[in-house]
Amino acid sequence: MEWSSTLSWLMSLLLLLICSGNSEEYAVRLSLVGFLQVLSGNDTGIIEKLGWSAATDPCTDGWNGVTCNNRTSSVYKIKLEELGLRGTIDAGRLCQAPSLAAVSLLHNAIRGEIPPEISDCGRLTHLYLGGNSLAGSLPPSLTLLGNLKVLDVSDNDFSGELPDLAKISGLVGFLAQNNRLHGTIPSFRFGNFDRRRFNVSNNLFAGPIPPGGDRLDQTSFIGNPGLCGKPLPVACPPSPSKEDHKSLKLSREKAIMFSGYIALGLVLFLFVTYKLIHRKKRTKHRKIADEKIASDGSSGKSSIPWSSTEASATATSSLIVLKRPGTMTDLKFDDLLKAPAESLGRGRNGSLYKVTMADGTSLAVKRIRDCGTSAAEFRRRMERMDMARHPNVLPAVAFHCSTQEKLVVYEYQRNGSLLSLLQGRQLDCVAFDWSYRLRVAAGVAEGLAAMHRELLADGIGHGNLKSSNILLTNVMDPCISEYGLVADSRSVEKAGGGSAVAAADVHAFGIILLELLTGKPVRNEPSELARWVNSVVREEWTVEVFDEALVSGGASEGGMVQLLQVALRCVHPSPAARPSMDHVAAMVNTVREEEDERSEVSEP
Ligand SMILES: *[C@@H]1O[C@H](CO)[C@@H](O)[C@H](O)[C@H]1NC(C)=O
Ligand SMILES: *[C@@H]1O[C@H](CO)[C@@H](O)[C@H](O)[C@H]1NC(C)=O
Ligand SMILES: *[C@@H]1O[C@H](CO)[C@@H](O)[C@H](O)[C@H]1NC(C)=O
Repeated sequence: MEWSSTLSWLMSLLLLLICSGNSEEYAVRLSLVGFLQVLSGNDTGIIEKLGWSAATDPCTDGWNGVTCNNRTSSVYKIKLEELGLRGTIDAGRLCQAPSLAAVSLLHNAIRGEIPPEISDCGRLTHLYLGGNSLAGSLPPSLTLLGNLKVLDVSDNDFSGELPDLAKISGLVGFLAQNNRLHGTIPSFRFGNFDRRRFNVSNNLFAGPIPPGGDRLDQTSFIGNPGLCGKPLPVACPPSPSKEDHKSLKLSREKAIMFSGYIALGLVLFLFVTYKLIHRKKRTKHRKIADEKIASDGSSGKSSIPWSSTEASATATSSLIVLKRPGTMTDLKFDDLLKAPAESLGRGRNGSLYKVTMADGTSLAVKRIRDCGTSAAEFRRRMERMDMARHPNVLPAVAFHCSTQEKLVVYEYQRNGSLLSLLQGRQLDCVAFDWSYRLRVAAGVAEGLAAMHRELLADGIGHGNLKSSNILLTNVMDPCISEYGLVADSRSVEKAGGGSAVAAADVHAFGIILLELLTGKPVRNEPSELARWVNSVVREEWTVEVFDEALVSGGASEGGMVQLLQVALRCVHPSPAARPSMDHVAAMVNTVREEEDERSEVSEP
């Protein structure tokens, strides 16, 4: 008895050693087999028939329904259609496969809901769940799948309202016909959709069809009794009369006024209390901070070097924490001030510090050199930006502003930046290959386009986009940081409001595309790289500009040339001739989609 258990333990150890070679990790295989177990309702017959077993390799041992990326030997696509599967979806296990891009479970009898953990499949581009018995509402976390292109939930038993899938800027297909979904239809960018890949017919949707819907066929919308507007033959009722508007506005004004009084009272009360309690503490802190700087000099770890006027002002002007579920809501300015800080660099518009808090979390703190923005204006911008979020844009955790000092606090991203990838400093955690570069390009384009849509009306662009500001999340997704921190509102107004900021950002994005294509990080002057590329292209030596690693890695020349053309339009010398970020994002997505299809993630 004991013998056999020791033996089996040794066997599994051996197996683990053998299997943890080049192929998909043992843990991933185990998860995938578990996923199929749950999906089939423990139907060992099906599992055997498909040949899935943790002891074999999905790529080389031919698991049925699995497609691998030959180069990286990782599972790319899972297609289990019409197999009579009658279990549930275990997204937690499914999403353990790190490169998974397409999942099709069409026409089975799968039950249960779509679990919220589906958002862990960050690389998913195609998700087909049509023709099953899935129910419940679509989880809001679906909107976190920033790379999603096609979502098919048709012919199920889904109910509830749709999450705001329009947030996924690359979405080109949404099929949800024949369910019991209700509520209104989000403002999809119908311009991107193929006519046959949008369908919400036979549900319980109501309200007006969003603008652009008239490009689609009316059969995409039929069978929803409450839906109105083009392309349906039912016109929408006129919007509420002016009278209604007025009274609504009045009562809202009153409400705002009263809440204003209450808030003012509260602030005064808190201020007085705070002063009384912290009078002693404050002087003590200032001393500590000053001593630290004095003893530690400029290098190594000390706390953030405050101007001395600031240190005394800090007690009254505190940190504004932007509330988000699950993050640092109890961050205190005092703690930030006391924590050890390490300088990460100094740029044109300020310095960056890594601050390690007492509980071990790391924060990145940007200290902005005075840029002529008033504290009130800065605060307004920060709060405005906090309302516009995108998975490819790093949100601020908190900020602090006073006349002398402006600070913005982010979560520290330990995987470095696109610049560090370009400089070849961390090649072991990701293949910096063509498909990854396209993923970075598309992610940044989508994030920037989304922020532009939300914020350009207020004249807020990025203002300082460069590869060192593109950070990499823990799943190596690109994430734009420092959005909107450079504000020179006066020059913006002179140069024609949002459009000038936008054109500058588009130019900066074009430079990033050139860096990705050439593999050459910009040194000093961004336009140098653009000039060089332009001169080579004029001489018709286009292929010469591409990164050798890409050419030898088997990237398609057609795709690279297409992306180069997008880049060259972005860096056009005349700002007015540059395309909008929305347009750029659509073009980059098209390139990426064609390349995806080329490398086998085709439609099931
Ligand atoms: C499948 O098997 C696992 C353990 O092997 C068990 O926990 C689970 O309840 C089973 N599920 C079904 C649907 O039978
Ligand atoms: C991947 O490898 C398999 C088997 O070796 C082959 O049939 C398939 O064509 C390859 N796919 C690509 C895209 O090279
Ligand atoms: C949408 O789905 C309905 C119901 O299945 C179908 O009749 C209609 O033709 C579809 N429309 C389009 C544009 O695919």
